[in-house]
Amino acid sequence: MSLNKTPALSSLACTVVYWQKQHGRHHLPWQGTQDPYRIWLSEIMLQQTQVATVIGYYERFLSRFPDIATLAQAQQEDVMPYWAGLGYYARARNLHRCAQELATNWDCRFPPTPEQIATLPGIGRSTAAAIAAFAYGTRSAIMDGNVKRVFTRYFGIYGVTSQRETEKLLWDTAQSAVEAAPASLDMAAYTQGLMDLGSQCCIRGRPDCARCPLKANCYAYIHGVQQQLPTPKPRKASPERACKMLVVRSHDRILLEKQVSPGIWGGLWSLPRYDDASEIDAACRNFGQAGAAQKMAGLLHVFSHFKLHIEPWYLQCDTLRVTEAGQGQAWIAIEDLPSTALPAPIRKILDGLFNPHDRALPEFTDAPADTG
Ligand code: ADE
Repeated sequence: MSLNKTPALSSLACTVVYWQKQHGRHHLPWQGTQDPYRIWLSEIMLQQTQVATVIGYYERFLSRFPDIATLAQAQQEDVMPYWAGLGYYARARNLHRCAQELATNWDCRFPPTPEQIATLPGIGRSTAAAIAAFAYGTRSAIMDGNVKRVFTRYFGIYGVTSQRETEKLLWDTAQSAVEAAPASLDMAAYTQGLMDLGSQCCIRGRPDCARCPLKANCYAYIHGVQQQLPTPKPRKASPERACKMLVVRSHDRILLEKQVSPGIWGGLWSLPRYDDASEIDAACRNFGQAGAAQKMAGLLHVFSHFKLHIEPWYLQCDTLRVTEAGQGQAWIAIEDLPSTALPAPIRKILDGLFNPHDRALPEFTDAPADTG
């Protein structure tokens, strides 16, 4: 029998929609709108980041950039503070580029088909399909991390999901599930339902099969192989790097350096960075403060593809003239740090020193600790 004719396939979409309407999420800030701009923003923020973290960022971003035209007209450096701490900063740079492309070529509107949406910067096939399903009700399959988990388990699809053949099989299966559904299928509820199932029931580790509406036809449930699916990716130990950073303070200001794009923190502000202790010594001598830097507690920051051990040093140097900064550097007032675009670990170091939680500017305080 072809996959199309199995009960598992033909009943999937309607079961998911029925469940989503009763048990899925309905009050997230990006639901209840068909504005593709708002949906796009939420999908990009949610790509690597949990819902609870995204909500505050999403609302702050929209109040500053309420539409495509406003975002397209902004400078990239005006956008980055609204992403600072969310990590994976290429998402913000692409978002800005994408708004400019929509302004130039699409009259500040989103194109009508998922195929056209997927040609825009930073938007892959699954995100394009999700935007089209939520904004226009388009019948187009999605395949993000959550949905991969649901489909591999439900259909018993083995193989590492990032491998080409497995990925193709997953996409073909997802497309068949949409095609096998009745014409009246509520695509927004179906798409949201798959995401909700993947994040609420069909979770990694110990899935909550008792609550799952798909268990009667689920391969993994029937065969008791939930732990084996999706097939785990062979783990490469992620490389470890180390660096030193210097917090130079003069009166109420800190010396920061603008990071270049593209680069892991491109567009954000970071601390001067050095490879070894002799470079810290040389920097202190340059500031006329030989040997005066104090070592602070180190921290480990985990990026998607490497780990970075940061050893921060602190140098108080009130004789420095803050009117003088090197190229790409600036003396930033400590009271302006909460609204400065800082990567999460740099914010952590500076928070530890200056404790801005006591200040009345809680703008970017819900940053995750484990993203770029
Ligand atoms: N993850 C990706 N898209 C999402 C959405 N629309 N709602 C909740 N989580 C998501």
